[in-house]
Amino acid sequence: MTPTRHFLAIPDFSREEILATLDLAARMKSGAYRERPLAGKTLAMIFAKSSTRTRVSFEVGAYQLGGHALFLSSRDIQLGRGEPIRDTARVLSRYVDGIMIRTFDQRDVEELAEWGSVPVINGLTDLLHPCQIMADLQTLRENLGPDLERVKVAWIGDGNNMANSWLNAAFRLGFELRVATPEGYRPNQAILDRARGAAKIVLTDDPREALAGADVVNTDVWTSMGQEEETAARERAFQGYCVDEALMATASERAIFLHCLPAHRGEEVTEGVIEGRQSRVWDEAENRLHVQKAIMARLMGGEQHD
Ligand code: CP
Ligand code: NVA
Repeated sequence: MTPTRHFLAIPDFSREEILATLDLAARMKSGAYRERPLAGKTLAMIFAKSSTRTRVSFEVGAYQLGGHALFLSSRDIQLGRGEPIRDTARVLSRYVDGIMIRTFDQRDVEELAEWGSVPVINGLTDLLHPCQIMADLQTLRENLGPDLERVKVAWIGDGNNMANSWLNAAFRLGFELRVATPEGYRPNQAILDRARGAAKIVLTDDPREALAGADVVNTDVWTSMGQEEETAARERAFQGYCVDEALMATASERAIFLHCLPAHRGEEVTEGVIEGRQSRVWDEAENRLHVQKAIMARLMGGEQHD
């Protein structure tokens, strides 16, 4: 029997699988893909944190592929009252054909995958946000061409779940990643070390050094979901890390600006940059729909892995 495939982190897919998934997402976006690989199938979506894009794009995407999605707030299901993840995993696997989960601890997502018998998709944890990075990679290809190895990506701000997932993408695809974070807000060390073995990674506390020659300028909120008590300390630590017009001008002439959203204008990015000519944030948000449809089609709908 073929083992159940999951998407808990970017490296769960090989380089070829990532590129094939992005190709499939592009076909879906163009309207050329008309299959219904999820006909009669259900995706359970467990949310322990808020969401606009992830929730709506997965639900709409499942419907467009012929399937159905169930929104399960962890506050409403028994998981929120302490039912073990391994029990939830085995029960849901008897009803549904795939589970998407947004939660805090990456180990909870791994436990769900370990104990369930259907594909599990990571819709964000404190550690990683792989679906978002797939959408970002699709946006890169649309703007900078299909050859992702040649692009230089800059990350400015917190070494958070997004930064860690960019490192994972560099690990798999080999592009140059330039990360600027304050001391004390660095990305995960193990993920950083692994990426350094496969790609050129620049780590600095100077946003201008990270932006020099960058084709992609990427940032995110300074305070992620679950860190609200640290807001004041973080606002102090990230002074100088706002992507404003002056900073943006130090990147490559062809540079695009990305932000996974929601954005805090006047904190990590200015109004002028997020609404400016280089911003691709709305395409980036749209691409969540297309890449996640491609991921579901592959994991739950039998679309072939290479
Ligand atoms: N970018 C992202 O994951 O957005 P939501 O939190 O709205 O799902
Ligand atoms: N880093 C942010 C991303 C939100 C989509 C968070 O985890 O809250």
